Amino acid sequence: MGIADILLTWYQGCKRDLPWRKDKDPYKVWVSEVMLQQTRVEAVKSYFERWVGRFPTLESLAVAEEEEVVRYWQGLGYYSRARNLLQGVREVSESYGGQVPDTRAEVIGLSGVGDYTAGAILSIAYDKKEVAIDGNVLRVFSRLYCIEEDIASLMGKRKIKSLVEREMPEENPGDFNQALMDLGATICIPKTPRCNFCPLGSFCLARARGLEGELPIKKKKSPPKPVRIIAGVIRNGENYLLHQRPNKGLLSGMWEFPSVEIKNEEVMDTFRQTLLEETGQEIQSERLLLQCNHTFSHRQWDISFYYCVITLGNEIPLGRRLKWVHRRDWEKLSFAGPHRKMEAYLLENPDFDSLI
Ligand code: ADE
Repeated sequence: MGIADILLTWYQGCKRDLPWRKDKDPYKVWVSEVMLQQTRVEAVKSYFERWVGRFPTLESLAVAEEEEVVRYWQGLGYYSRARNLLQGVREVSESYGGQVPDTRAEVIGLSGVGDYTAGAILSIAYDKKEVAIDGNVLRVFSRLYCIEEDIASLMGKRKIKSLVEREMPEENPGDFNQALMDLGATICIPKTPRCNFCPLGSFCLARARGLEGELPIKKKKSPPKPVRIIAGVIRNGENYLLHQRPNKGLLSGMWEFPSVEIKNEEVMDTFRQTLLEETGQEIQSERLLLQCNHTFSHRQWDISFYYCVITLGNEIPLGRRLKWVHRRDWEKLSFAGPHRKMEAYLLENPDFDSLI
């Protein structure tokens, strides 16, 4: 038997029982694959089930409000994934009569669908012979064929893609792709592969050469860049001034307390001046409420929240995505992660303003 047959037999006996494997509905495969892109399988399970409980069909998602969709994503991070998924689903609803298309050219044209997701949808939902190469598959093949190129490089990826294509069977390509993912997640794991349990042990060149612990070769990413941020908790009665982040970039479209990135030494002067320019609010005095750190893949935020007493009666400049929002309406908004910590602090410390 060759690699594909052995792998498929192993998968039949050992595949993980995962909620998105209950059926082959292309919409659900799509949702699960987008959720799994930057989040661990264990963490995704409950989000996926909650999601299909609320949005059981493509149409039910297509007609949903973006704010609600993002709320159902809250905690998974990388929120542009949720927004792109929603947009892609609306495109399917409008252009394909609600049926996810089954050709690579069409699927890859949908918002938020890249090479990997297209391959996963087509192979798992439509039995198309299309590869879906994620980090697990790169690791498994780099060992199987003892590839010493950097797997993050274009060359490394190309080499592995052509090997996966060569091994892919005509029958059950979706199972083949998912078997590789399972093998990578449970046996051919990153630092200490469990080679004694591997169904492909006798094919593995890295193991034969004693290199299974050295592979894959992966160049180190640069560490997240530290960023210092000061945010203002600005209150007018029970209303607080909130800002919606731009639709592109980090935490796109999420709500936050108005904040200023500090790049110089004049910390509080810059904070007051920028808030005046951006929000029209003049700060009389401020007091530190909370300081916390939050790490993203490319940024590390050191964020300090200051309760600000303002000179009342100042208008918000037009067109700035700023809004006074009553406390009871906060739960309807999706707060950017670090700002949720401030929200929690305010709930736990109702007398936070008594000392200023
Ligand atoms: N990781 C990404 N896609 C997956 C899938 N379909 N099954 C298990 N793990 C995955």
